Amino acid sequence: MRSVLITGTSSGIGLATAVVLASRGWRVFATMRNLKKRGLLDESLRTAGVQDKVCVEGLDVTSQASIQAAADSILARTGNALDAVVHNAGVAAAGALEDIPDSELRRVMETNFFGVLGLTRALLPTFRAQRHGRIVIVSSEAAFYGQPTNAIYCATKWAIEGWAESTAYELEPFGIDVVLVEPGPYRTEIWASTPRFQPAGSPYRSWVQQVFAAADAHATTMSRDPKEVALVIARALEARQPRFRYPVGIFARLNHFFRGKVPTTWLRKAMKLYLSMSRS
Ligand SMILES: NC(=O)c1ccc[n+]([C@@H]2O[C@H](COP(=O)([O-])OP(=O)(O)OC[C@H]3O[C@@H](n4cnc5c(N)ncnc54)[C@H](OP(=O)(O)O)[C@@H]3O)[C@@H](O)[C@H]2O)c1
Repeated sequence: MRSVLITGTSSGIGLATAVVLASRGWRVFATMRNLKKRGLLDESLRTAGVQDKVCVEGLDVTSQASIQAAADSILARTGNALDAVVHNAGVAAAGALEDIPDSELRRVMETNFFGVLGLTRALLPTFRAQRHGRIVIVSSEAAFYGQPTNAIYCATKWAIEGWAESTAYELEPFGIDVVLVEPGPYRTEIWASTPRFQPAGSPYRSWVQQVFAAADAHATTMSRDPKEVALVIARALEARQPRFRYPVGIFARLNHFFRGKVPTTWLRKAMKLYLSMSRS
């Protein structure tokens, strides 16, 4: 039975991935930072009849101590063998740079970027020793182009893609694959849980509010079932020779196709038109 550690399984794509992989016969270590939020995962696993294939563990990707404790505990249970990790945990913070507190910018980078590096480092000795391992990173179509009010989130996804593309060179000789899964919009908690900064008196306030409203309309009409992403993650994990990138959904595939082909100033014009942004 192949084994996988997944981060951020309390909701959304991580939860769906835990259920899908368990249903396909994987032994799943479903981790989350707050075990009090495991109820929805437990219920979904019971409904799918796969609760016996899944161990739920605490893991906060922003804490090196938590990463090490979870890795040690999971590897102790598998006899120091693990086939794959899915770096799924992710957060965002929306607004203009001058309005977002520094602590928030760092929280997003700590979670989406340094969290991936920290957990990867904890698992690499095992992957190297067994001479195989698959590292799947849930990135985003936000890695393909800049998005208004979403700069720090985009920056973390661009950063993790540059890191992944570079690190793949040093891991390939050990039989370790690095894979990016890049979803477009999906119906998950991230839209509601992302803090939005629009302080009174901000020179950006009305523009930011206009973008938030347009982004909400986009998310409401275009978001799809996160199970779609989970199935692509399963494909990336199970492929004999995985691709490096898996854009997921029509938006991500289109944006991936146009990446580098269309001048950025044109893209910005198209984005402003799409979001009906009046500020030049
Ligand atoms: N939904 C989309 O449209 C979309 C599109 C492209 C990419 N993505 C990416 O998909 C991934 C999953 O997000 P989602 O859309 O499924 O949103 P979600 O439902 O909000 O799930 C995010 C998960 O990350 C967890 N998390 C946050 N901070 C963490 C930390 N410090 N340590 C461990 N876990 C942490 C959350 O736990 P809590 O419940 O404790 O907060 C939650 O389980 C993210 O990397 C996101 O960037 C999403």
